[in-house]
Amino acid sequence: MNDSLIDVLVHSVTSAAEGIRAFELHAADGRDLPAFTAGSHIDLHLPNGLVRNYSLVNSPAERHRYVIAVSLDANSTGGSKYLHENDLQGAVLKISTPRNNFPLIEDGAPKILIAGGIGITPLYAMIQRMEEIGDLWMLFYGARSRACAAFREELEALDAKQPGRVNFNFDDEAGQMLDVTSIAVRAPLAAHLYCCGPSPMLDAFNMVTANRMPDMVHVEYFTAPTTASENAADAADLPETFTVEIAGTGQSFEVKRGQSILGVLMENGVYAASSCQEGCCGTCVVQVLEGIPDHKDFVLSDRERATNQMMTICVSGSKSKKLLIDLD
Ligand code: FES
Repeated sequence: MNDSLIDVLVHSVTSAAEGIRAFELHAADGRDLPAFTAGSHIDLHLPNGLVRNYSLVNSPAERHRYVIAVSLDANSTGGSKYLHENDLQGAVLKISTPRNNFPLIEDGAPKILIAGGIGITPLYAMIQRMEEIGDLWMLFYGARSRACAAFREELEALDAKQPGRVNFNFDDEAGQMLDVTSIAVRAPLAAHLYCCGPSPMLDAFNMVTANRMPDMVHVEYFTAPTTASENAADAADLPETFTVEIAGTGQSFEVKRGQSILGVLMENGVYAASSCQEGCCGTCVVQVLEGIPDHKDFVLSDRERATNQMMTICVSGSKSKKLLIDLD
């Protein structure tokens, strides 16, 4: 499941808000880029060797460009820092084809969107798509201040067309952060709820939506939540060690319970794509040809996990003594 990479030219770099840079990427060969759906992200391979995921924020109707927005993270381990401190206009970078772990369900039901900070990015792509297909939506967008809210002017213009759809909460003006709990409690049961933002926001969202139909509740994690994955099995039910065999090459490795499969592969010189290494982005998802994974990710859907035909190798382990996986 490792995508082939695409060379893209950084066509422009602009400021989307205080501390947020927008990068417009065009195919380096001048052709159209692969089509994508709202909520998709790409892996961006940086010249410093890091791979980072960014949501596509432009309209999925566009094929001539991808736009990403990158917030400078005070705790950056090199991704956002690199993108903010270097002049990349005109540079050629490699990206993956878009993947969508956070799809917009186009079933005609209304959508309540809740964004915190840079979590607006996939939701803004969804809004543009819903404007095209005529779906009803309402956005609640929390940001530290007016100046920190990306795409504020574009969203204000959409609200002017149909007032009440865009609800900002600027922490410094409101004196409090966006109240996710009261928004979700008041949301109609027939509406899809989407939430993307920092972990405390997602924790509150998960708690208040726990009794809703799972198919109507959608979350995208940028970092792993503080709570462990509820999909993981009890340690007592798992083998102490298991074998991971790579289809095609026949290489096999022993992995101790609690060790990362990805880590073991890397230690043994086997390349596998990865990015977040926290089970959030889906970059390391591989096909499982034999065996039962112990899923600990936050990115696969319940249905995908139930098939046991795919797994994240950065955080997930094995319930069986052997896993046969396909890295291609
Ligand atoms: S590297 Fe992100 S889910 Fe494994």
